[in-house]
Parts: sequence; structure tokens; C-alpha cells
Amino acid sequence: MSQPLPYPASVRIVEVGPRDGLQNEKAQIATADKIALIDRLSATGLRSIEATSFVSPKWVPQLADAAEVFSGIQRKPGVHYPVLVPNEQGYERARAVGVEEIAVFTAASEAFNRTNINASIDESLQRFAPVMARAKADGVAVRGYVSTVLGCPYQGEVPVRDVVRVARALHEMGCYEISLGDTIGVGTPGKARAMFKAVASEVPVAALAVHFHDTYGQALSNILSCLEEGVAVVDSAVSGTGGCPYAKGASGNVASEDVVYMLHGLGIHTGVDLPALAETGRWLAALLGRETGSKVGKALAAA
Ligand code: HMG
Ligand code: MG
Repeated sequence: MSQPLPYPASVRIVEVGPRDGLQNEKAQIATADKIALIDRLSATGLRSIEATSFVSPKWVPQLADAAEVFSGIQRKPGVHYPVLVPNEQGYERARAVGVEEIAVFTAASEAFNRTNINASIDESLQRFAPVMARAKADGVAVRGYVSTVLGCPYQGEVPVRDVVRVARALHEMGCYEISLGDTIGVGTPGKARAMFKAVASEVPVAALAVHFHDTYGQALSNILSCLEEGVAVVDSAVSGTGGCPYAKGASGNVASEDVVYMLHGLGIHTGVDLPALAETGRWLAALLGRETGSKVGKALAAA
């Protein structure tokens, strides 16, 4: 059996709370509060903050104010602010307000894609082609997501070969990084590791990220198993908000505070100020009228 790689010396956190977190909130959050959230996150040392989503407002009304949010934030030099873009219309809306990095998204499951973006996997890839071409011409960096990498709410099991095929296709199209999403948080560490290794045999590890939802409380363990395979980019959401409106049963993303605490405990550098991040998580939770979804955030408040 091959030995796991040593942990990476540093990990980049991609904070997805303002997008993945807020897209699934029932309560309407004021545009000014979304802007305040991103500005607070920018002050914590995070280097990537997914700011919002230029999808159809009919499909995700929670983020219908994407243009106002993006125009309102203070962009900090050195911080990347990617946004979700599903098609050329989204690309044009994003570029009109000065977006410099986008993320396209598809899934390893046909059934999920049909529900989430009204397209088959191959149709979605075809839809991205003109977006990729325009992004290349405009110097816009593109991240790619593969959803349902460890299970689908409609199809159940998702064959690893389907995950590999879609991840490779996104990489070949020009996505600089592919984020592997356990959309409904059903994965366990052995399956996460096997899936990650299979993808890493066809896409360079340096171009991979992991994105775990914590429905069954497995996210940190899953991240650890992928760290042992060399992943150095981890998506997470402050205060553990999140979920996909088109993924039945999907609960929050793993909390950024919990990931940062674990990474720092392992001696892995993130550049993130944990107390400031935890404070932002509690501020967001109060805004949403609940307790923070981060165990670390709660513990730090009690300490
Ligand atoms: P469709 O209905 O097939 O699209 O939706 P259409 O092209 O027929 O357009 C329908 C209407 O939407 C038209 O308006 C378009 O103009 C408008 P109408 O003529 O009816 O007035 N429209 C748009 N408006 C604004 N911005 C746009 C846009 N596109 C069309 N970009 C579509 C197809 C992809 C647009 C739709 O299905 C959609 O927006 N889906 C997004 C679903 C979504 O955001 N899901 C959550 C994100 S994925 C996720 O959370 C997973 C992830 O976190 C990773 C993981 O956890 O696995 C990333
Ligand atoms: Mg997600």
C-alpha cells in the first residue's frame, strides 16, 4: 500500500459562506448585511471569498442582489472574490460589475444536474464552452465545481469514474482549479480518500480542492483524509451555513472556523485570524437569529 503524502505546509481556505451559505437561507438578508459579511471576512486574512452568484434569480431569489453586493464590497488587494456563473448571461452580469474570477458548476450525477441547472452533464459542459472562451480572452480566472462526488439525492451512488470524467473535462476546458463537492454531505473518510485519489490520478493535485457539507458530521474527517492525499485548498463556510436549494437534505458546509482550528492544530498555515473569523461567524449567526454552527466559534466565545 502506498504511504499517504505528508500534510501540505499551508492550505488556502475558499470561504463560500456568502454564496453557498446565503443561497439557502429562508430569511431575506439585507444587501447591506451581505456586503458587511464579505468586508468582515476580507479582514480575517482569507485569500479567497466566494462573494455571490449570478444565476437566474428565479432559481435562487436569495442572491438576486448579486450585482449590488459585488459593487458594494471593499475589494482588498490580494484577496480573490470569485462568483458563481451558470451561463453567458451570468458571465455578462458579473463582468458588468467588474468580476475578475468566476466559478462554473456541474455535477457527476445526471439527475442532480437536471434539477439544479436544467441540463445534462454534457449540455452543461457545452454551455460553459463560450463562457470559458470569453473568460480566457478577458483574463478572467475560472474555477470549476463538480457536485455530488460522494452521492446524489436523486440517483444515490455516484460512480467514481463519473466524478473523474467530469473533473478532467473541466480541467481540460481551462478551469485552474476543480472543487470536488460532497453536496449532500453523505461521504465518509475512506470513500472521500478513494474518490480524491482517483481524480488526482487524472488531474494534478495542485489543481484540486475539496468542498464538504457536514450533514452527517463527517466533513472534518473527510478533509483530513484528503489532506493526507495532498489537497491544499479547502472550501468552507463561516458559521457552517450552507446547502443547495436543489439538493434535498443538504445541510451546511463545514464551518470555516472548525477547519482553520484543525489546520492550525496540525501546524498547517492558513493566514487566517481565527478569533476574528469566529467573531464574524457569531455575528452572522446573530443576524440569522440562531447560534453559530461552528463548534470552535462556540467554544471560543465561552473561553
Ligand atoms: P433555465 O430555466 O433552463 O434557463 O435555467 P433559461 O436559459 O431557459 O432561462 C430562463 C430564465 O432565466 C430567462 O428569463 C433568462 O433570462 C433567465 P425569462 O425569459 O424567463 O424572464 N436567466 C438568467 N437571469 C439572470 N442571470 C442568469 C440567467 N440565466 C438565465 N445567469 C439556469 C438554467 C442554469 C439559468 C438555472 O437552472 C439556474 O440559474 N440554476 C442555478 C441553480 C443554483 O444556483 N444552484 C445552487 C448552486 S450549485 C451548489 O450549490 C453546489 C456547490 O456548492 C458545490 C457542491 O456543494 O456540490 C457549487
Ligand atoms: Mg456546496
